[in-house]
Amino acid sequence: MNSTSIKIITDSSIQTQKVAELLVKTLSDKKYSPPHIFALQGNLGAGKTTFIQGVAKALKIKQKILSPTFVIVKDFALSKNSNFSKFYHIDCYRLNDPSEIITLGFKEIIKNPKNLIFIEWPERIKKLLPSNTVWIKFKIQDKNKREIIIKNSNLGIKISK
Ligand SMILES: Nc1ncnc2c1ncn2[C@@H]1O[C@H](COP(=O)(O)OP(=O)(O)OP(=O)(O)O)[C@@H](O)[C@H]1O
Ligand SMILES: [Mg+2]
Repeated sequence: MNSTSIKIITDSSIQTQKVAELLVKTLSDKKYSPPHIFALQGNLGAGKTTFIQGVAKALKIKQKILSPTFVIVKDFALSKNSNFSKFYHIDCYRLNDPSEIITLGFKEIIKNPKNLIFIEWPERIKKLLPSNTVWIKFKIQDKNKREIIIKNSNLGIKISK
């Protein structure tokens, strides 16, 4: 693991959501430059959507964040947020080919520095992701225990339990 990775163990979905909330707080410091793309990797049920629910909570989004079954790109307006104008929840699980996401406007979405983007199953569109994408890996360790590794981040998040 390189020195800019952060490893966190959570013991509940609430804790995973708290980690996400800390991440959002760090982003509002503006120290971290765009694009704000987060690639959430991990098996089925590892906690990717749960983490994104924590992000949405921190952004005060009222709508429910679900594992989108047929919606691949879901956007939420952030009218009261000074840093970002839109939050995107993208789930590539059902993509048959990376080109499909381009037809959904992916290139324009990542071009806009006012967009905050979280992607599930990002490995399916890996070649389309910029090099400064922040990779977050989720591993199931036990029924309620998850290992979360935030890679290559210069986010400077301070985690304390
Ligand atoms: N520490 C934890 N962190 C996150 N989720 C946890 C934790 N412990 C238990 N869980 C449970 O694990 C499940 C995680 O599901 P979630 O939908 O977030 O996974 P996912 O990675 O998005 O899967 P998928 O690839 O199917 O979309 C939830 O039911 C959640 O309550
Ligand atoms: Mg999910």
